[in-house]
Amino acid sequence: MWPAVTFTSIAIALLGSLVIYLRPTSDDPLLKLASDNSHKYDNDLLELAKIASISSLPEHSTDIEEAAKWLVKRLRDAGLEDVKLLHTKAQPAVYGQWLHASGAPTVLIYGHYDVQPVDPLELWTTPPFEPTVQREGKGQGSFTGRGVSDDKGGLLQPIQAAEAYLKAKNALPVNVKFLLEGQEEIGSPNLAEILEEHKDLLSADMALSADGGQINEKQAGVVLGLRGGIAFEVEAQTVGQDLHSGLKGGSVQNPIHALAQFVAELHAPNGSVAVDGFYKGVREITAEDRADAAAFPFDEEAEMQSLGALGPHGEEGFTTLERRWLRPTLEVVGIYGGFLGAGIKTIVPARATAKISCRLVPDQDPDNVMSVLMRHVETHAPPQTRLTFTPLPFRANPYIMPRDTVANRAAAKVLQEMFGSPVFFYREGWTIPFFDLFASHLGIQPVSFGFGLPTDNVHSPNERFRVSMYDKGREAWIRMLQEIANQAAETASSAEPNATQ
Ligand SMILES: *[C@@H]1O[C@H](CO)[C@@H](O)[C@H](O)[C@H]1NC(C)=O
Repeated sequence: MWPAVTFTSIAIALLGSLVIYLRPTSDDPLLKLASDNSHKYDNDLLELAKIASISSLPEHSTDIEEAAKWLVKRLRDAGLEDVKLLHTKAQPAVYGQWLHASGAPTVLIYGHYDVQPVDPLELWTTPPFEPTVQREGKGQGSFTGRGVSDDKGGLLQPIQAAEAYLKAKNALPVNVKFLLEGQEEIGSPNLAEILEEHKDLLSADMALSADGGQINEKQAGVVLGLRGGIAFEVEAQTVGQDLHSGLKGGSVQNPIHALAQFVAELHAPNGSVAVDGFYKGVREITAEDRADAAAFPFDEEAEMQSLGALGPHGEEGFTTLERRWLRPTLEVVGIYGGFLGAGIKTIVPARATAKISCRLVPDQDPDNVMSVLMRHVETHAPPQTRLTFTPLPFRANPYIMPRDTVANRAAAKVLQEMFGSPVFFYREGWTIPFFDLFASHLGIQPVSFGFGLPTDNVHSPNERFRVSMYDKGREAWIRMLQEIANQAAETASSAEPNATQ
């Protein structure tokens, strides 16, 4: 069928040139619009960061409302449609969309407008809710104030990018939906409910998170996975009540000695967790995983020094980054019992407690790990000791996404262009609830596309956001939305079924 083949190849060639033509260049009116408006964009962040939207403190509930309303107005001004609040039992989420890019993918953009508390206040050099910006020379300087990096600066970037498209071209290259949460800093307690209740509204081909960061000002990365976790406590009890250590000491079990022995035996001498079934489901580390960890820019000695650590420590056979990214852990986070006041009290205490948390990796199942630990506690009590196991409210699935998706390819390409250096694929050791919630409720695996830096003091006094990252992130979002359209078109034209996600 020659005519068909010819037609197809012409179509592909045309599409190819169209794709090249659509890639923004620096004299693109769109990018010019984005870079000429720094005053307006600075005001956006200064206004939003002035609102004390602390989600963990009930006395700030009117500030939460004010921030949500501010965003509703800002999304409408940007040209987004169907802008509204998605109500929860507590802090609402803000929604907005633009869905007129027919045939192009739909991108769900996540951010959060709530912030952490500010104490200790006396360590701030400027009041946390009187944000400031200093632009010194070319792209130097910072915003300072609570939330400027986490995540008010971050969530404004894609809004400004969408606005630039709608002002310059009256259209976006992809369909977008914004979901701006007000509960991230308290662990997203109602996010699952929002995702379930508004499943159709929020359905999308991919999700990008405007909450996140880059490695440093010159090096960028794409996060492929996060660890999950669980927590529990173990109480050791040996006698009915505290006893006189002179009268009874030496003749009954001491619960602190017993608990210390139990805790010491939770790890093998080589640092692995000595609990039957703990490693069930843990993925083999691949050569690619090891290569990612080895390539990641990381100065172990400098970091250990900055942590005040005497040196690296952990499971034998793994490097520090492998331990953090790819291996599960069990940590005692606190241990107490007996007499803790000043001076001495001569007793044999009755009870001692250890609080323990675990970090989990793909494909460990938190419920399974919880039950093997419970069984371990039940079967490993030291002599004359009752151990009681109590789950604590921390449960997160580990998260992993494939490397080769439209969104990851687009992110890697845009970040490489913007940072001028190769992009690192990496994992994080911590947990971000919405990643797994998006995956399990919407069937979408989010890609982190944020521009905070490790030096931003997030959650700490004097939080800041580099103006260079604020500007660079906005341009990156503009390029990213176009690149997703390009990658999706290339994927479709390369006739690979199932290659879009
Ligand atoms: C560590 O020791 C445990 C218990 O002896 C063993 O099962 C495990 O394979 C060891 N791990 C490594 C990495 O050698």
